[in-house]
Formats: sequence, structure tokens, C-alpha cells
Amino acid sequence: MCSIIAYKGKNKAAPIIVDALKKMEYRGYDSVGVATISRKKILLKKGVGKVEEVNKELKLEALNGNVGIGHTRWATHGGITDYNAHPHHSCNKDIAIVHNGKIDNYEELKNLLINKGHEFKSETDSEVIAHLIEEHLKNDNIINSIIKSCNMLEGAYAFVAVFNAGTIISARRDEPLIIGIGNDEYYISSDVLGFIKYTDQAIFLDNNEFAIIDKNLKIYNNEGREIHKNKVQIAWEFANVDKGKYAHYTLKEINEQSYTIARVLNAKYDLNEIKDAIINKKVILVASGSSYNASLIGKMLLSQVAINCEVLIASECQYYKDVFSSNAVLLALSQSGETKDVLRAVSFAKENNMKVLSLVNVKTSSLARESDLSLSIDCGPEIGVAATKSFTAQVAFFYKLANYISNKFIINVDEINNAVSSLLSIGIDEIVEQLKYVSDIYILARGLHYPIALEGALKIKELAYIHAEAMPAGEFRHGPLALVDNNTVVIIINPCDNTYNDTSSNIKEVKARGGRVLGISNVVSKEYDWFIKIPSVNSIVYPLIEVIPLQLLAYNLALKRDYNPDYPRNLAKSVTVD
Ligand code: G6P
Repeated sequence: MCSIIAYKGKNKAAPIIVDALKKMEYRGYDSVGVATISRKKILLKKGVGKVEEVNKELKLEALNGNVGIGHTRWATHGGITDYNAHPHHSCNKDIAIVHNGKIDNYEELKNLLINKGHEFKSETDSEVIAHLIEEHLKNDNIINSIIKSCNMLEGAYAFVAVFNAGTIISARRDEPLIIGIGNDEYYISSDVLGFIKYTDQAIFLDNNEFAIIDKNLKIYNNEGREIHKNKVQIAWEFANVDKGKYAHYTLKEINEQSYTIARVLNAKYDLNEIKDAIINKKVILVASGSSYNASLIGKMLLSQVAINCEVLIASECQYYKDVFSSNAVLLALSQSGETKDVLRAVSFAKENNMKVLSLVNVKTSSLARESDLSLSIDCGPEIGVAATKSFTAQVAFFYKLANYISNKFIINVDEINNAVSSLLSIGIDEIVEQLKYVSDIYILARGLHYPIALEGALKIKELAYIHAEAMPAGEFRHGPLALVDNNTVVIIINPCDNTYNDTSSNIKEVKARGGRVLGISNVVSKEYDWFIKIPSVNSIVYPLIEVIPLQLLAYNLALKRDYNPDYPRNLAKSVTVD
């Protein structure tokens, strides 16, 4: 999703900004732009495409000046065009802004400003911010103008404005914005990756606060009172984001599961507080995407140790308000900790006096900071848009937690780790070759394996752009079986456990109608047209290992079909709008 970076210091701003935008590419975007201040003038260039391409064409890096802002846009309001790319100018071109979020009342504000003579160049909601500040500055000082402008904005924003005099202003409400503090230099970004290469000292702006960087940094609340905020040290591990020997981040992250799963299982978490918070309470698990799929496994495992759980898709929470009550606890899962729908669920929970627990990968994220208690899966930065290692780390966490509550499961970390490592090197070229042109894939599984079917289908959709649909195997005959013919491909997740016999009967039904079956199991069957053998492990932990071949299948299908698995079209790593 959109990324913001701003710089003010002794160095040339544009190269730092372009480099930061490249670092944040993983978030997903369609256009890019940079504005710098040189000799009291704003220089601005922007265009559609990847940072590398636009930089090559427009020479963004060559813009002069020691103050600047940059942005990558993921279109929401208005098409993917050069005009709609950020930054946006005010009419007099003395102000340029970049914005993340969604201004709900932008049409009303735009009309108001047009009536006052402002001219708009884009179809975006964001451009109103530049004109609003310009309008207020006609009669007021900068602090009051920012307060008045922010008060008029409805919706979510993190914006940075540069002024031709060299001042930078940043403000946020419900969108992250972090100020990096270097040696006589400042960075402002939506993601610590934007500046961690230069400094690990940061200040996190809270909602409705704004910062002015002139000669030095001052932070204000929305009444204009200056406030003091402590610096936070950010983990340097985020600085080390590199593909290493791998062709793609996604492949690197899939391979990192050879230690990330074990790391969670072996971690010395203090789980007492979370145990106390959830025992004898109703636990509402809330998440989106892969984190939601992990939550489904979480529910199944926690239910087995007598924890009463319900799982809600974060974007649906607003329609289940009755579930949010003070005798329930929220456990929010999010790799990024910035997913808007999840954060909104946190607000509902707080309105209902619920305790908020969270499991994140980014410890400094909004979700972690808004939780009463937050734990981390600590699997390092996940850059590939499609979640891989964070998914298995979340699932591993649930095994750990459930076992802490009641030592019920046998979790042999070496056994799991060996199984994962051996699966990372399986050969699936032949299968990929034969599946590369199919248009639909069904993935069937039962019980604990069903969330893995969902996760596998999500990976195949996200990375290979093949329609893939997961179903509890027993449901297949209640409708979808009608679709099966000679062209149908069905993946069956079928390890030898209490689901085996029933799932095997579903294979027969598919085969009898001409469908072709890829079996993922520890036991071979003559019914399978293709087979991926997984090692035999203690049956409760199969989800952790059977997902690996599905991730690899999705990754390799993407390559075979000539798609870049790291940057799936139309998708963003963290979805910070609703
Ligand atoms: C986006 C990503 C998904 C991810 C989901 C939830 O849609 O493309 O891969 O699972 O967000 O992300 P979160 O950071 O909240 O786990």
C-alpha cells in the first residue's frame, strides 16, 4: 500500500528518498513521485510505474535540495495516472503533500475549495490537503493552519507537507507515521524500513498529533500544545533486508521456515499473562488474509484445551458488534500490525472495555502499541506480499500457547523442523509443468487441514493468478461436485490421521467423474494422478508441514506463468485502508 518518506538534513534528499521508496516497494504500489525544495522552490516529478523505471525516466534522484518528500501510491480514489500520483501541489506551488489513507469527506472539501478559487489537478482525495493548508495559511500561522485543516478532514490520514521555505509538517490519524532521528537530520516514514538504514532512533506519532520540522523537531497535539515524546529504539534487524542468494523474497521467506517455525516453538515467551487473560473468557480471534487462516487453526487448537474461541474476519467485525462485549477478550493477529480492518476491530473492542491481546511480527506496529498485551512471532521482515513464514510462525505460536495452557499435544520440534527442511527441497517441476495452464483448482481437506487448504488456495490466487478454491472435503458433494469433469484439478490434503478415510472417499468421487487429483499425504494412493509425499509426523502438527508444498507450488506456478511472485498485481502487503 502507499508509502511515505520525507527527509530534511545535510545530505541531498532525493537519492535518500528514492532509495527508501525502493526499500518499501514490497508494500505494493502503482506510481511514484518525489518533491524537493531548492532555492525556495518546490521541484516535483512523478509518474506511473516501478520506482526503478520512473526514476530512470524522470531522474527523480537528480532533484536538488536537502529537504524532500516521496511517495508510492496504491490507487484508491482516481485511476493510475501521472496526475493522480503524489506529491500534490497547492495552487501557488508553495506546498506539496504526500498522503496515505482515505479522506471520506474529500468531495465536500473539494467543492468548498473550488468555490474559493482553488484548482485541482488530480482525482484523488489527497489533493484537498494541500489546498486546505494553503487556504488556511492565507489568514493564519502554520500551527493553526494545520490544526484547522486536520479538524476538517474526516477519515484516515498520514500526510507530510513540505513548504518552499524548507519546513516539513507531518500529521496522522489512524495511519502510521514514524519520525526517524539522525544526526542533525530527520526522516519521516510510514514504515521503519524507510529510514532504518540511517538511524534506529524513532518517535512514533500518535493519533491527532502533528510534527513540525524547521530548524529542529517540535511535536504538538491537536490543540496546538507542544508535547514531549520519548524516542524509541528500533530493532536493527530491519536494516538487513536483502534477498541474499534467492531469486525472490518470497522464496527466501519460504526457505526461512527451516528455522522460523522452530524459533517460535522454542521461544521463551512469558505466556502466563495471556493465559490468565483468556482462561474462562470468550476469545474473539480477529484477522485478515493469511492471519485469518492461521486464526482458524488457533481456534481449533485452543478449543481442544477448553478455551472458548470465535474467529472473525476483521473486515466483517463491524457487522458482529454484539460479539464485542466486556466478558470477551480480543486476540488480534496481524503480521504487519497495520491492517486497517484489524485496527478497527481493536477500536470496537476498546469501546466495549475488552482487553486487547495481539500477535504481530512488527513489534513497533500500531497494533502492538494499541494492545494491552502484544507478543511477537519474531520471524524477521516479511517482504513478499503473500504471507509465508509469518503464517507458519503464527500457527506455531498457537501450538505453543495451547500446550502452555494444557500440556496436551506432543510437539517434537526436531521432528517438525526436519520435516519442514526436507519439504523445502522437494522436486515439483513435473507437477508445475502440467498444472501451469489450468484455470481452476479445488483444494479439499478436513478438520485441521481445512485452514491449510484455504491458505494454499490463497497463495495460488495471489502468486499464480489461478482461480483456486478451498473447501471442507465433505462439502464438495453438496454442490461443487457438479463442476467436475476431465478438466478438473483437485488437490487433496490427506495425511494419515482421523480425517484420512473420509477424505479418501472424496477422492474416489472426483476420480469417478474424470477429475485429476494431486495428493499431499504421507501415504501414497493409486488414486492420485500426482503425489507430493510429506514426512510422517505426530498427526496434530501436520498443518505446519503440509502448507510448505502448497507455498512452493504457488511460487513455482507464478514463475512458470511469468509472474513476479514478490509483487502480485493489485495487491499490497499491508492494507491500511478500509
Ligand atoms: C494483505 C496481504 C496478505 C495478508 C493480509 C493480512 O492482504 O496481501 O498476504 O495476509 O494483508 O495482513 P496482516 O499484516 O494483517 O497479517
